[in-house]
Amino acid sequence: MNYDLDMKIRDKMKLSEEKSDYGKSVIEIKDLRKSFGDNHVLNGFNLTLKEGGNLVIMGKSGSGKSVMIKCIVGLVAPDSGSVKILGKEINNLNRKAMDELRLDIGFLFQGSALYDSMTVRENLEFPMRRHKKKLGVGKDTKPLVLEALENVGLAHTIDLMPSELSGGMKRRVALARTLILKPKVILYDEPTSGLDPITSKEIIELMHNVQKRYGTSSLIITHDVDCARVISDRMILLVDGINYAEGTYAELSKSTDPKVEAFFKN
Ligand SMILES: Nc1ncnc2c1ncn2[C@@H]1O[C@H](COP(=O)(O)OP(=O)(O)OP(=O)(O)O)[C@@H](O)[C@H]1O
Ligand SMILES: [Mg+2]
Repeated sequence: MNYDLDMKIRDKMKLSEEKSDYGKSVIEIKDLRKSFGDNHVLNGFNLTLKEGGNLVIMGKSGSGKSVMIKCIVGLVAPDSGSVKILGKEINNLNRKAMDELRLDIGFLFQGSALYDSMTVRENLEFPMRRHKKKLGVGKDTKPLVLEALENVGLAHTIDLMPSELSGGMKRRVALARTLILKPKVILYDEPTSGLDPITSKEIIELMHNVQKRYGTSSLIITHDVDCARVISDRMILLVDGINYAEGTYAELSKSTDPKVEAFFKN
């Protein structure tokens, strides 16, 4: 049963692989540097995410994966380097332009980061409130909220509080909250961490469904080798603040470089 699911996912992956060979870049990072005092986290990091692609970044804890993703969405200011999203250099954008661009970038935070004091429905309405006009949403947001929840199989949780959901359900609701703005690019920070293998597979399946349905491009940070194997069409290993190694899962998992091998040993 797990094997079937795996094959289904891999078939879908082939499609996105073919697409990503030809696609244009949706995210381009060049020579990104970021230090916190003496802690030199990113030391010239580069990345290109192609349209429709599934790029996985792996790196050990504390290596700077979340800092890198936060540089992309403007939550952390880089010391130097260039970050281009959908052709726009984010260093040159004012707040309003950055806000507009954020509509096209969904960010699934590490953990689910739902608001504990709000119902599922309110959590999903939250990102829409500033963009109602642009989204063409009237007063009644319920149909959109329901559509997003249906995408993740959780329409029945609309009036529940996050504390009433399991870890896997929270992750799905967080994904629904990201989807509600119909982003062109989704950044996933550890989408499967803390979940059991079966729930992890379901989340990966969902990520694929989202990509197929909306044609999104995905940047996925994970330390889950299974997740990387199933979902990536390209991978970057982040070591010492740089792209230590880059390639497909098949290429990297065959490497005899000890630092690369370390990622694939359980
Ligand atoms: N706002 C900040 N101020 C100071 N140091 C920070 C800040 N954010 C991150 N760091 C430091 O940057 C380094 C990289 O942190 P980051 O959160 O990117 O790691 P990570 O690769 O995402 O790890 P994990 O796999 O555990 O999530 C760490 O040493 C961390 O202490
Ligand atoms: Mg992190």
